[in-house]
Amino acid sequence: MKVLEIWSEKGGAGKSTLTIHIAVAAKLAGLKVAIIDIDPQASSADWADQRGSEPEAVAIPSSRLDKLLSDLRANGDMDLVIIDTPREANNAGYIAALAADFVLVPFKRGGFDFRALKRTIDSCLLAKKRPCLLLNGMRIGATRVEADVREALVEHECDIAPVVFHDRAPYVTASITGFTAQETEPDSAAAAEIGELFTWISRQLGLSTTRQRDKKAVSLSTTKQRDRKAAA
Ligand SMILES: Nc1ncnc2c1ncn2[C@@H]1O[C@H](COP(=O)(O)OP(=O)(O)OP(=O)(O)O)[C@@H](O)[C@H]1O
Ligand SMILES: [Mg+2]
Repeated sequence: MKVLEIWSEKGGAGKSTLTIHIAVAAKLAGLKVAIIDIDPQASSADWADQRGSEPEAVAIPSSRLDKLLSDLRANGDMDLVIIDTPREANNAGYIAALAADFVLVPFKRGGFDFRALKRTIDSCLLAKKRPCLLLNGMRIGATRVEADVREALVEHECDIAPVVFHDRAPYVTASITGFTAQETEPDSAAAAEIGELFTWISRQLGLSTTRQRDKKAVSLSTTKQRDRKAAA
């Protein structure tokens, strides 16, 4: 089981958007995937409720993260867990970074974003994880801005994903409808960006996307039911 954290201390950077799109990409690739939402806003978990089908999601406080991850590991069924994190500079993102195999940091282009980014990178490094940035919401054709951003990022201790997410309507639609760009607009540029990103992330995590799933898979809800029985 691999753990992917989506983290930025900057609000609105695209954490939840990335979380749901990567989760659906993993599901479509035949992986068993779950979202663990440690943001009290619970945007991803709410989105999954609205959607009413896989990928499943659960909202928990970060203090319960290690326990849930170790239960899921013990069940041996999950391929990928994606952790959506809160915007505040608190402990939650760091706790998730300690548990993560890979930390993906969505990054928008403004000067204020650079300040928040420095804090997120420092916290990742403290957790001994080298973060990987995903340039998000870039304006299509704004090559000069993208070049400036890349140049400004050189001095930061992080990698940059080879895929750029542009400012595209299907990403916004996904947050409203419960269905992502790959599902509603499979031929769109947004769907292509996600496909590329997911292929690349799978490689970073060593995930095999060809594995056939056992339909009797243990889910987050069965884990929770078992916990409740044990506590009763
Ligand atoms: N590439 C994109 N193109 C267009 N809109 C985007 C893109 N990425 C994110 N958005 C939009 O930006 C807004 C903020 O995104 P999102 O909620 O994913 O950020 P967040 O980092 O999870 O925010 P928070 O810190 O509040 O949890 C949403 O309305 C989302 O639809
Ligand atoms: Mg969010």
